[in-house]
Amino acid sequence: MLAKAAGETGRLIGVDVDQANLDIASQRLEGCGCPHLLVRSNFDQVDDVLADAGIAGVDAILADLGVSSNQLTEPNRGLSFQVDSPLDMRLDDRLEQSAVDLVNRLGEQELADLIYEYGQERFSRRIARAICRHRRPARIDTTGKLVEVIAWALRVNPASRRAKIHPATRTFQALRIAVNDELGALQRLLKKAPGILNAGGRIAIISFHSLEDGIVKRSFRSHRIDGIYDVLTKKPLTAGVEEKGLNPRARSAKLRAAMRTDEAPRLAEGDSGQSKRALRSKTRR
Ligand SMILES: C[S@@+](CC[C@H](N)C(=O)[O-])C[C@H]1O[C@@H](n2cnc3c(N)ncnc32)[C@H](O)[C@@H]1O
Repeated sequence: MLAKAAGETGRLIGVDVDQANLDIASQRLEGCGCPHLLVRSNFDQVDDVLADAGIAGVDAILADLGVSSNQLTEPNRGLSFQVDSPLDMRLDDRLEQSAVDLVNRLGEQELADLIYEYGQERFSRRIARAICRHRRPARIDTTGKLVEVIAWALRVNPASRRAKIHPATRTFQALRIAVNDELGALQRLLKKAPGILNAGGRIAIISFHSLEDGIVKRSFRSHRIDGIYDVLTKKPLTAGVEEKGLNPRARSAKLRAAMRTDEAPRLAEGDSGQSKRALRSKTRR
């Protein structure tokens, strides 16, 4: 749809850390009529991608965060507690550290903090204790084993349909966020965005959980206070009934958008240190 909107005179630059998904995007874009460039890169490096392509500014940034359905169900990726596979969770297979490293290396306190902070799991201590106990005789190296340990810690049957969400949901989310530094990458993208957008250019971010949405909301708000953005979505947009029916994962999606104001100072080389400092202090967490 974006490629259609950009048309023959526009240009679409797509980045993804996962080569397989870039290949799918490339097939989808075949014959779309819009010149496009797909680059394997973290979106927190988008400024370098644009510089390499000789592009000084863009009219729109769209980031659809998180994981795609095919990544979730892909055997060997280890992202889903529904599929027994190696405990990996890397979206970018060039990353050195995977979930199996974190689960088997971190101390109990570190694990508990990670599961609490990124998974918002109130039983994080119990789960961390159980992981440390069960990994002693043999490494926890599959998603299936990790689900068993979590279920043991919470005294629940993972196959039971009584619980609203699967008992491993929050722990899996926490590990995935940590392995892929998802919140760090989002913060870096949001910090760079004003320096990439042309005046009047728009940024839209689709997030899938409250940690991401909170970061987007705070970043847009602080850029609005600095006079850099007009926020276009007072409340985040969510999927309607029809879209949720077609794509159940859209249930938790939230879209926020902002527009770079004409007057905003560009945050590139030579810009006032004051606005850079203001931006830095507002986005530091
Ligand atoms: C929700 S999916 C996008 C789905 C896509 N919009 C579609 O309609 O098929 C998110 C994508 O972002 C990629 N991704 C996640 N974090 C990334 C990051 N920091 N940098 C680049 N790509 C990232 C994932 O590999 C995945 O392909």
